[in-house]
Amino acid sequence: MNIILLGPPGAGKGTQAQVLTERHGVAHLSTGDMLRSAVASGSELGQRAKKIMDEGQLMPDELMIKMISERIDQPDCAKGFILDGFPRTVPQAEALDSLLESKGTALDAVIEMKVDEAELVSRIESRINESAQARSDDTVETLKRRLEVYREQTAPILPYYRNKGTLKTVDGMKSIEEVTDQIEGILQVA
Ligand code: AP5
Repeated sequence: MNIILLGPPGAGKGTQAQVLTERHGVAHLSTGDMLRSAVASGSELGQRAKKIMDEGQLMPDELMIKMISERIDQPDCAKGFILDGFPRTVPQAEALDSLLESKGTALDAVIEMKVDEAELVSRIESRINESAQARSDDTVETLKRRLEVYREQTAPILPYYRNKGTLKTVDGMKSIEEVTDQIEGILQVA
């Protein structure tokens, strides 16, 4: 099972990826988590990532493509993986296709999680108010920028996958359990 969860900040990608990886024993590849680990380590990459993430901007494509190529080579990805936060631009999507093709594998489904903007803002604001879950890029200003970046740079991936026939959409406004059920329904026929 190789799938992508696509959606704007707060759509529930991380939440669903966690449930699905536990159920299906596949790897959860979250580029946001990988970058936050780099920030926590204080590495040069982490220092660069912190600045870009706190501005709500995207890290350079080449760097993210290299990061995901190395991660997909790890043994825990052999049974499959759920990509959460990658790809985020059309060049990233194209690079992923080439990478999977070179490995003789492919994507089973690309799942778009649709959520209204007011709900996204409300979910992230709740996270801001629960300090245990707070992230340094969860500020009202940065969230506005992250949503703009999603519309401008990430949403063009949707027609890319729609044209390939791999794009499926779920109603991400439903409860966490109901969204999981919708995704499981897609996976059964993928
Ligand atoms: P990343 O970590 O990927 O953040 P994001 O896309 O902004 O998404 P979030 O993690 O905020 O939201 P989510 O959709 O995972 O929702 P969640 O499950 O947490 O990226 C961070 C940054 O890293 C980027 O801005 C960029 O700078 C950089 N980056 C990462 N990847 C990159 C790449 N490929 N290229 C370049 N740069 C990259 O849920 C949100 C909240 O809602 C939670 O509190 C949750 O409990 C709640 N919730 C979830 N589902 C529901 C539901 N159904 N009903 C009610 N509440 C729900």
